[in-house]
Amino acid sequence: MTTLVVTINGRTHGPAEVRDDLSMNDFLREFLGMTGTKFGCGAAQCLSCAVIVDEPDGTSHTSPTCVVPAASFNGKTIRTVEGHAKDGKLSPLQKAFIEHFAFQCGYCTAGFLNESQVLLERLAKTPVAREELEGTIAAALDGHLCRCTGYIKYHEAVRDVILADANRYLLASK
Ligand code: FES
Ligand code: FES
Repeated sequence: MTTLVVTINGRTHGPAEVRDDLSMNDFLREFLGMTGTKFGCGAAQCLSCAVIVDEPDGTSHTSPTCVVPAASFNGKTIRTVEGHAKDGKLSPLQKAFIEHFAFQCGYCTAGFLNESQVLLERLAKTPVAREELEGTIAAALDGHLCRCTGYIKYHEAVRDVILADANRYLLASK
């Protein structure tokens, strides 16, 4: 057993006693009722279960939760799909996903959303040239599987959000 304390979307959860073989996905969904994080393949292959991990050095990345023990998140700070909307307002990415009809069943959406948010935050710190943008988005979303095949629409939605705030996310063109 591990005594788990984890910060999720700015709120501290725990201390909670968890079995060492309990997955983070089960902790979120079954212990906390946070069912926005999905369980797809269960084998670290689809990333529908991905959450954002915020590291102490200010960097962020996504992590699957299906095969990762909850105990390994002890002391960490994470964000889930439930944390994106603020004051009842959807984030720019959430709005763009809807406007582009990027998802159908929505099973993959939380993972795509978290990955795209990490990308936006990275670009805000290290912008790329416009010519590099398509490859940058494709590389960021690579590994996220969508059985409803919304790949192009997700890509276009992320691109729209970036181009709408190009001064922030892209290098000034020469
Ligand atoms: S459910 Fe975790 S990677 Fe597929
Ligand atoms: S919208 Fe159904 S899996 Fe992506």
